[in-house]
Formats: sequence, structure tokens, C-alpha cells
Amino acid sequence: MDTSTPVPALPDRPRARLRRLLAAASAAVAVATALTAAATTPAAALDNDLAATPPMGWNSWNTFGCAIDEDLIESTADHLVSSGLAAKGYRYVNIDDCWQAPQRDQAGRLQADPTRFPSGIKALADHVHAQGLKLGIYSTAGTGTCQRLPGSLGHEDLDARTFASWGVDYLKYDHCFTEKSALPDVDRITLTGGDQTSSYEGEAAQPSGTAKTVSCPTCSGGARVTGLGAAKGALDFSVDVPTAGTYRLGIDYLYGADPRTSYYPTGYVTVNGQRAGDRIRFDPSPSAQQTASYRMDVTLAAGGNTIRLDNPLTDLKVKQDNFARMRDALAATGRPIVYSINANTQDGTSFADIANLWRTTQDIKPLWHSTSWYRGVDDIIEQNGRLGSATGPGHWNDPDMLEVGVRLDGFPGLTPDEERTHFSMWAMMAAPLIAGADVRTMSADTAEVLGNSAVIAVDQDRLGQAGTLVASSGDTEVWVRVLHNGDRAVVLRNRGTTTRQVTATPAQLGVTADNRYLVRDLWADTARTHVPAELSAAVPAHGVAMYRIHRLGR
Ligand code: GAL
Repeated sequence: MDTSTPVPALPDRPRARLRRLLAAASAAVAVATALTAAATTPAAALDNDLAATPPMGWNSWNTFGCAIDEDLIESTADHLVSSGLAAKGYRYVNIDDCWQAPQRDQAGRLQADPTRFPSGIKALADHVHAQGLKLGIYSTAGTGTCQRLPGSLGHEDLDARTFASWGVDYLKYDHCFTEKSALPDVDRITLTGGDQTSSYEGEAAQPSGTAKTVSCPTCSGGARVTGLGAAKGALDFSVDVPTAGTYRLGIDYLYGADPRTSYYPTGYVTVNGQRAGDRIRFDPSPSAQQTASYRMDVTLAAGGNTIRLDNPLTDLKVKQDNFARMRDALAATGRPIVYSINANTQDGTSFADIANLWRTTQDIKPLWHSTSWYRGVDDIIEQNGRLGSATGPGHWNDPDMLEVGVRLDGFPGLTPDEERTHFSMWAMMAAPLIAGADVRTMSADTAEVLGNSAVIAVDQDRLGQAGTLVASSGDTEVWVRVLHNGDRAVVLRNRGTTTRQVTATPAQLGVTADNRYLVRDLWADTARTHVPAELSAAVPAHGVAMYRIHRLGR
């Protein structure tokens, strides 16, 4: 199906009065839009004065995974400077997962792996800062990182202070070994007061919502209650105690964690309508068939009481809570630290009120299209390209880091045309440009793609408005991004496997017949004066042609 959306005409420089009138009108529209947006947008964007344009830098993960050490990070910083990439904007040197020692120190602080980072992170930050660059680090909103090293859940304040004391400037905060809002299945509860313990079977309690009793041969009473929490299911126990006071509540539950799904069920206890304690995180039971017990103190009245087990929060709210805790902990340090999150949410949810950038897709790998869990460049453009309206100064969609120049065992890598598409489209989407290649040994081609200043200028344009797909036909697409001075960045894209002629109409480009334009080809680095007509190019398979159009006047 063909689609075509014209974009507004490029602004006319000489007509200042008209421009002022238009500016006034558009300010009125902006106010009206802001008012409408305020009615529908739940929260304002995070305002920490950071990431006015999408962050640029390097990250260790895409090429090195866990094979990192302080020499690599230091020499990468040195090469970012000597290659000229730092001067082009690549200034964050980000250490991904696996920098941590397996244990916190005696004061409960995260510490660097003593073998691979013997000088510690502070010394590394000093080296990076001395190069005029900034240091990034990695942790998770979970008990562990994705590589099973210590995570920051429950340690947010201390970890944020530790990072700040080391001189960290950027935190990538991931989502493994984290919390879900569903409770585990409940077998029964017990109440102990003095030396008396009474037990109440789940199947004898009152279920509501999605909660229901199912058979369980290994449970007491032969049954358990499933479907609890996730803002959908609750279980009310009616309990009787002879005297008012503190009792020990035991919740016997079953949760055989699948080692591949690294999350913890969570829930709340409410006694006679009053929330008792914080959100409970349930550790795995020995197996899906064996119970474990969570114990806490509750205050009961003499006679009848109601103990409710539920979780009124959605999964998304639990994530937002946990990511916001680190946001607030970073803010409390007083150090400017860019906050980059991966909430493992791929449905287009914006985390603009929580973070400077948030991942919008599963992990990228150096390939075009993937049928596995990983994402290729074309998959990500399809997914992230639709989300542009969420992006803007200080808050950016993050379609994951760059695979330009990354060679990884088990993956095909990108062709030169695919690499240009990757870089061009990340710029059109106003994405962070975090290089993943080994910059110490990168080829001239990789340096040329990563170092294309004209494409970088599109990415870093201070208006921060992501480009949109204005026309598509079969395998061909036209993308247009409006820039702060009224210029347009244009990508003619071919998703097919043979060369195709791709054409953008004047209406799609926003050019009008009474003007002349300067059209610069951002990859061929050529410019020509153009009277409005179609913009057309023979675009190679999986490739792009990219232009910047500037109005010259009549
Ligand atoms: C993934 C993340 C990757 C990398 C990895 C480290 O969740 O998407 O970019 O950080 O964890 O374990």
C-alpha cells in the first residue's frame, strides 16, 4: 500500500513580518498543543538539564561483552581522542556489564572486579576526564545484573552516591533479576503468637478477580491459589486471634524460578484495610512443587481480622517505581549523571518522566533482520521509527547502540550500505549515537561512517524533533526530519534486495515552486542548487541516500 504525507513548506527567510506573524500563530498553536498534551500526558519530562541532544559516545558491550578491563577502557578513551571521534561529539566512554566484583564490599558498596579493574573506577574516571571525556557505568534495577553480578535494587541511594564519588557521568540502568507485580501461588498462611501457630488454607480463603484455586498434590490441603496480584487478583483470609497484638505471619508459597526468566514475584499484605510493611519480594522456592515461606510481623485485633494478599500495581508501575528510585537517588547526589534505562518494555511506552533515554527494543546485533530474540537494524527502524513523537531535548527514545564496524562471532555483520542506513536512520530518529566498535582497531570505513559530521549534525540538531516516514511504497521509503533552522534532512531508503529508484515529491519534502534550494548529499558530500522538483536516487539494496535541504530563497 502506498502512503504519502506532505510536510509543511520550508520557511521563507526574507519575509520577516510574515515570519513573525507565523511565529505568533505557531506559538499559540504550541500553547494549545501543550494544553492538550498536558491533559493527556501523565508526567512532565525529567528535568535534570542533561542530554539536550542525544548522548554520543562509546560502550563496551557490543564488541567486548564481559571481556573488559581497565586497559581497554583507557585505551578506548585515548583512541576516541586520537581518531578525532571525540572532537566530533563521542564523549561518553561507557563501561557496560561485568565491571563489578561478584560481592559488595564490607560497607555494602559495589566494587570493581579487582583483577580486571585493579586501579578502581575512580582512577579510570580520572583518566577519562583528563582526556576531556566522560565516564559511564552500568547497573540494574534488579538484585543482579544480566550477567549475574550485584544489581542495585534496594541499594539505590548507596550505589548512586558511590557512582558520584567515583566521578561517574552517565548510568546505564538495565532490567534483569527484577520485580514483577504478580504474586507467587499461595498454599496457605500461618499465624504464630506465643507458642501457638494456626494455619489457614488458601483454598478456604476468599478469592477475587483472577485469583482461583487449583489442585496441588504437594501442598497442604492438596490445593493452592493462583492468579494473585498484577492489579487483578486478591485473596482475603478471615483469621481469628484471642488477643490483640503482634503475630508472626507466614506466607507459604510456590515459585520455581525459571533460570531464564530472571524476575521475582512481589505483593502486599493488608491487614484490616491497612497496608502492612513494604512491597514483599518473594525469592524462588526450592522448586515449583515445593513451598517456601515468607515471614513478617503483623498487628492484629482481638477476634476477627482480614488479611489480604494482593498487588494493586501493574508490572509497568513496578518498573516505573524501581527506575524512579534510581532517578531520585542520582538527583540526590547533586552530580550531573545522564540516566539511560532499559525497562525491557517494547510497546512504545515513554519513560520521559524518569530517564534521559530509554530503550525501545530488544538487544541489537550486527545483522539486518533477525528471526530470533535479537533485533537487526531494519527491525529496529521499523519498531523505533514510529515512536518519534516521544523524543525531544532531554528525553530520547533509545533504539540501542551502534553496530557500525562491529564484527561478532555468530552474526553476519552489516554490509557497507547497511552500516550507512544504520547510522543515517539513527540520526533521523534522533537516537543516541553510542559506538560499539573496537575504536582501537577500527577500519577507515568504520571511522568514516561514525565520523560523518553532516549526519552527526542531523542527529544532534537542537530542535530534537525526530524524523518521520512521509511516504512508503513496497520496499522504498521517504523519511523527513525538520531541523532547527528550518532545513530538512531527507532519507530515501531501499529495504529491498536489489537497487531501486526512490523518489520524494516536492510536497513530501516541503519545497515549493517559487523557491530555490541547496541540496547537499550527506554521504557523497556534494551539493547542488535545486529548483523544486522530485528528489530521486538509485538506492542500493538495504541502502539509503541522505540529503539536507536548505532554502536559498527565490
Ligand atoms: C542487556 C542489554 C545489553 C547489555 C547486557 C549486559 O540487557 O540490553 O545492552 O547491557 O544486558 O548484560
